[in-house]
Amino acid sequence: MSTSRPAAVVVLAAGEGTRMKSATPKVLHDICGRSLVGHVLAAAGELEPEHLVVVVGHAREKVTAHLAEIAPDVRTAVQAEQNGTGHAVRMGLEELGGSVDGTVVVVCGDTPLLTGETLRRLSAAHVADGNAVTVLTAEVPDATGYGRIVRDDGGAVTAIVEHKDASEAQRAVREINSGVFAFDGALLADALKRVRTDNSQGEEYLTDVLGILRGAGHRVGASVAGDHREIAGINNRVQLSEARRILNDRLLTEAMLSGVTVVDPASTWVDVSVTFEQDVVVLPGTQLHGVTHLAEGCEVGPNTRLTDTRVGAGARVDNAVAVGSEVGPGASVGPYAYLRPGSRLGRGAKVGTYVETKNASIGEGSKVPHLSYVGDATIGEFSNIGAASVFVNYDGQDKHHTTVGSHCRTGSDNMFVAPVTVGDGAYTAAGSVITKDVPPGSLAVARGQQRNIEGWVARKRPGSAAAKAAEAASREPAVED
Ligand code: UD1
Ligand code: MG
Repeated sequence: MSTSRPAAVVVLAAGEGTRMKSATPKVLHDICGRSLVGHVLAAAGELEPEHLVVVVGHAREKVTAHLAEIAPDVRTAVQAEQNGTGHAVRMGLEELGGSVDGTVVVVCGDTPLLTGETLRRLSAAHVADGNAVTVLTAEVPDATGYGRIVRDDGGAVTAIVEHKDASEAQRAVREINSGVFAFDGALLADALKRVRTDNSQGEEYLTDVLGILRGAGHRVGASVAGDHREIAGINNRVQLSEARRILNDRLLTEAMLSGVTVVDPASTWVDVSVTFEQDVVVLPGTQLHGVTHLAEGCEVGPNTRLTDTRVGAGARVDNAVAVGSEVGPGASVGPYAYLRPGSRLGRGAKVGTYVETKNASIGEGSKVPHLSYVGDATIGEFSNIGAASVFVNYDGQDKHHTTVGSHCRTGSDNMFVAPVTVGDGAYTAAGSVITKDVPPGSLAVARGQQRNIEGWVARKRPGSAAAKAAEAASREPAVED
């Protein structure tokens, strides 16, 4: 559809968004891992316009800084005072030299559900019909607050009338202006000069351009959006949550249609940057954020939150939190595990119940099954770390590394005081505090010898329940084998 490739897209994002009641500018609020304006830019980007301009105004330092981060190629135009949508577009065009030849598409920065597909259809219809302006409209159940589309007896669009300026009859119209338009660039620039401010808000309305162009004898058209929810602008946090729900459902539907089982879409939340392979199973209460990838046949959840994490084929992650981690194929995590950044589990490795890891590489087939902390460590292949062990990585000032080799068996309740190395095939005794390197194949024992002081309870706690139990035990005949 290269013929409909627009010369420019202008994104309006100068408004304050007072109803969000937020220190964060409205267009920077997030749904599904992307800011509102980020979603709009993604949709606009699908049109492959020659120029992409965002009009900023309110809190423009924050908005501009965000844009520099997510879309460094985007240009910004400043609208210092918010004198209306027409004024905003005028500022946008000034950034491009005042006028552009070809199609100019205008979108608002607060419509995150708008798809590239809808914009392409609008742009294509605009070009195909040879219009001076084509407005994207929708039939909505409640048109309160929106600009109404006024059509003549033949059904041709004649004007857009703002809610505040509309008559009773016009207010009964349920077809509304989405705020998205395709314009002929030169005619737009010219008409904007003629927009007046004699309306209830004393603003330059972009919507007046439509009437001006029609009055001058140009073709005016409308493209009706298939789904009115797509064009909904976000004004408050109720609408923000509704939009998040819709977008989340869209993402999950796409995943399910590509072969992912989502047991409970209502309690499953995903970001736009999450990817899945076939036969993944996502159990209830799962949140997938950032650049998270779930490989074929893995099962994640219930009650799991993964951020920027890769889960290998056939792996299992249950009741866990993972950030910046990698779970190898067939590996197992949880229930109740916390993988912090830099945790890497090899093929078939295990991080079990109440285990925390950080900057730790756990090799193929190695296991940390219970109640342990593994920080700044490398564990080789097929080793087993006993329950309740701590990799003591912090001396109060610096972090140090622990290395455990392959095929090791470390005892329960070990402290590995880093920096320290346990050689391949070595064992350590339960309750050991390992402060010195353990040579390969040896057994390290680092704990006090056990001493039994016979008769201590009878002497020191006479008459106590413990003393009575001990006495009864001493009367029982010895058990013969
Ligand atoms: C606007 C339309 C209305 C349409 C509705 C769709 C006008 C006059 N009205 O109304 O027909 O039904 O959107 O949601 O165009 N903005 C600026 N600078 C300004 C004013 C606004 O950048 O000076 C930006 C806002 O940040 C926002 C967008 O333009 O992204 C729309 O502005 P808003 O104030 O929300 O207009 P509405 O009254 O909703
Ligand atoms: Mg609005």
